[in-house]
Amino acid sequence: MKKRSEILVLHGPNLNLLGRREPEIYGKTTLAQIDDSLRALAKESDVEVTCRQSNHEGQLIDWIQEAVGSFTGIVFNPGGYTHTSVALRDAVAAVATLGVPTIEVHLSNVLAREEFRSKSMIAPAALGQISGFGAQSYLLGLRALLQVKKEGKEQ
Ligand code: DQA
Repeated sequence: MKKRSEILVLHGPNLNLLGRREPEIYGKTTLAQIDDSLRALAKESDVEVTCRQSNHEGQLIDWIQEAVGSFTGIVFNPGGYTHTSVALRDAVAAVATLGVPTIEVHLSNVLAREEFRSKSMIAPAALGQISGFGAQSYLLGLRALLQVKKEGKEQ
């Protein structure tokens, strides 16, 4: 029997360059490797993840909106849009009220970097934020989302 694709993983701008992009900050793991490790972890829990990346704010908003009815939650690294995008925050808040919660994740510890990165537009609309554990942040985010879903405590 085919498993339903339940969790949407969204990677924002510049994350397609992972592995080559500022490796001293973001590590050497590529986006494809992160997606593989998420799929492996999801398989252990008998769920499926769908992973997408875009450099475009509108595309990310479309995918977040379309998650309603197709996915039970979102693991989201909004990249640089974290610090600027009211529109992405509104999309995350909108789908949360429709039963699709989001966990925000970051590879780097955004609070330990430049001042402008200490503000997340998205975090108040998300269930929570995981930041600073490199590629592990995504896996921790997925674990947190699956746990919350299991306990039915997302409201
Ligand atoms: C990032 C942190 C952001 O501040 C930055 O703009 C990124 C990556 C992270 O995963 O650490 O693009 O989201």
